[in-house]
Amino acid sequence: MRIGMVGTGYVGLVSGTCFAEFGHTVICVDKDESKIKRLKNGEVPIFEPGLEGLLKRQIEGGRIEFTSNIAEAVKGCDAVFIAVGTPSRKYSRDADLSYVYGAAREIAQNMEGYTVVVNKSTVPVGTGSEVERIIREENPEAQFDVASNPEFLREGAAIDDFMRPDRVVVGTSSDKAREIMREVYRPLYLNETPILFTKRETAEVIKYAANAFLATKISFINEIADLCEQVGADVQHVAKGIGLDGRVGAKFLHAGPGYGGSCFPKDTLALTRAGQKYNAPQRIVETVVSVNEDRKARMADKIIEFAGGDIRGKKIGVLGVAFKPNTDDMRDAPSLTIIPTLQQAGASIAAYDPEAMGEAGSLLDDVIWCKDPYEVAKDADILTIITEWNEFRALDLSRLSKSMKGNLLVDLRNIYSIQEMQGKGFDYVSVGRARVLPDRTN
Ligand code: UGA
Repeated sequence: MRIGMVGTGYVGLVSGTCFAEFGHTVICVDKDESKIKRLKNGEVPIFEPGLEGLLKRQIEGGRIEFTSNIAEAVKGCDAVFIAVGTPSRKYSRDADLSYVYGAAREIAQNMEGYTVVVNKSTVPVGTGSEVERIIREENPEAQFDVASNPEFLREGAAIDDFMRPDRVVVGTSSDKAREIMREVYRPLYLNETPILFTKRETAEVIKYAANAFLATKISFINEIADLCEQVGADVQHVAKGIGLDGRVGAKFLHAGPGYGGSCFPKDTLALTRAGQKYNAPQRIVETVVSVNEDRKARMADKIIEFAGGDIRGKKIGVLGVAFKPNTDDMRDAPSLTIIPTLQQAGASIAAYDPEAMGEAGSLLDDVIWCKDPYEVAKDADILTIITEWNEFRALDLSRLSKSMKGNLLVDLRNIYSIQEMQGKGFDYVSVGRARVLPDRTN
């Protein structure tokens, strides 16, 4: 198969590289010439574990090429994927579809023979029909179908998610397009990945519904965590107790400071907008959006409360600022609400993140960036863990506690067990679990 990939952002680059690994010939196109130059040399502009090595192998094997000329990328392809950005508009926060429609126009002008145009960007329901209309308007002779093929890639685990997905969803009513898409994903048949063929609109709804459902699980367990704190229960045991029921499922039940990233906040909001537009209110998801917004601010309040209500002049050490581990992505990261709230309450902040400090530097003012967790802890009154990077899971607790001035450790990701924190000299506060006081074993 010859596959064109329009857009070399996160989704386009991961998908293009993985399709090449499947053995297809992939041509990726992007308007950003300097990015194309770097990619040709195998340099990956984003942080995604495993991607650079995998890409280099495809380049060496001659299975992937990069160009800034869309004609080169589209001509003779069996399938052309649209994987361009759909940023939220500044004021309305609606998805800006101009890149998707622009890509559709350029594809229409350059395609040869029958081509499946596949939308991979996350787009509102009905966008596939609009793409089809644009292509027909631009090139009335074109032989094509438009399919929707949403992505379910988690940042930091994208290669694995692509190579071993729970399912692949393809939305199209055309038999011809279905045949080509089956061929594109044929390597996944070997490990019996379910491939779900649906109507295009259904595939578009599946993408939003999947993310909104996962976000709902997170907000649900976060509110249960609040209750656990009040009644002396343990949210991790509750999550296990409900998650062992196959109807509920154990995943995405980790209580924390609220979800962030480029997907859940944007997609939950987009689903509520679709509900309003089509007069089918999404009240559950509307609540999830507001619960999550409140949660980030409440986490700062929680730190202040356990610090005795007044943090003026205190030094707070922060471990992790990215929205989750294994990424440098800061979009909608809880740290972007928590840190400024603590600063407004009079604290100074020292922080460390293994990958996101470059990105965070331009988004957070007056933070002292440190080289490791121990430098963060030095003379700190309070230490807080906001992102659960693996390297924070086995810190030398006695070294930390000796270098801190105070003893309050607020673990917003529950990465330490209650048992192991006993007798370590910390006033240990986590989410939805018992507090561990420094001088008591409880
Ligand atoms: C998410 C989905 O998991 C992917 O399936 C989807 O393809 C992607 O969005 C997308 O639409 O492109 P991602 O945003 O990379 O992926 O990250 P997740 O691992 O899903 O985490 C999202 C947020 O939820 C993070 O802030 C994370 O800390 C939080 N989270 C996750 C929790 O607070 N608790 C959990 O149990 C799980």
